[in-house]
Amino acid sequence: MKKHSILVVGGAGYIGSHMVKDLLHAGYDVITLDNLSTGHRELLPGGQFIEGSLNDTALLDSIFSEHRISAVMHFAAYSLVGESVENPLKYYQNNVAGTINLTDSMIRHKVKRFIFSSSAAVYGEPEEVPITENHPLNPTNPYGATKRLVEQVLKDCDSAYDFRYISLRYFNAAGADESGKIGERHEPESHLIPLVLKTATGERDNISIFGTNYPTPDGTCIRDYIHVSDLTRAHLLAFDALLEGSPSDVYNLGNSKGYSVREVIELARKVTGREIPVIESGKRPGDPAILVARSDKIRKALGWAPRYEDLETIIRTAWNWHR
Ligand code: UFG
Repeated sequence: MKKHSILVVGGAGYIGSHMVKDLLHAGYDVITLDNLSTGHRELLPGGQFIEGSLNDTALLDSIFSEHRISAVMHFAAYSLVGESVENPLKYYQNNVAGTINLTDSMIRHKVKRFIFSSSAAVYGEPEEVPITENHPLNPTNPYGATKRLVEQVLKDCDSAYDFRYISLRYFNAAGADESGKIGERHEPESHLIPLVLKTATGERDNISIFGTNYPTPDGTCIRDYIHVSDLTRAHLLAFDALLEGSPSDVYNLGNSKGYSVREVIELARKVTGREIPVIESGKRPGDPAILVARSDKIRKALGWAPRYEDLETIIRTAWNWHR
């Protein structure tokens, strides 16, 4: 039987590169499309690489004409909440218009399976935690709004065309592949765990805690951290489900366990054996106090379960990469 070919858009980024590695390992043909605006060519573990943009319709058409693509996995989005508030058009242009271009080309070439990287940011300030997929979608920033809009576009495409999708709403992606060869690298870095580990290595002098009077037990924000390889495994299961004819759907992806910023720093001290000096500073605009997922739906429907359930292990894999 011929191998399935998967197009990974954004495969040179943090989560995308882990996806490419796991797809290759599972025996798929992989084609990566990435404009390298935030990705890194050297993070790509293999497969075919095409440098290009989602705004390039001719390029998309040529990819779908030349390859028999079984599914598209789409990781190529700008994802910084603060930047999206300052420059919303950059986000709508890339995350929404780019994705519409991509799905339009797919539909014209009869490529009908799409797996989308959505985000907990679609929910906004939660009315109830843990958050289920039925929670109202009230994003509090343009980044979350772009993810909600794309989900709407996908839903309408499903109704109108021969097109099926699975949208995976990630909570806080963290950690790195066990090999230590690929991991999280943003420039500039703004995410908590990599910044804490850069403080541990001495690359930074300290880590700022953004807000210490949130309505949480220790006053700092609580997040649900999920290992990047648990995310990629959910994509493999989503592809199998679509192949078997499952209908389009939306799933949360989290560990259903929250850790505060102070707890993250404490665990990083334990893992690294380093001091990690802290500065208490003001709140970062747009940060909800608590984001924790209920992930029962994907457990039941796709048989997914996290392999990295405790944050200490997740941080250990990230530290392995940072060193
Ligand atoms: N934080 C600090 N100091 C820092 C950096 C972060 O205290 O230097 C805090 C933040 O205020 C937040 C927590 O650490 O409370 C986690 O912050 P991150 O920037 O690591 O992650 P976010 O929760 O802001 O956002 C991430 C993704 C988003 C996604 C969201 C969904 O970056 O794309 O998770 O949960 F929408």
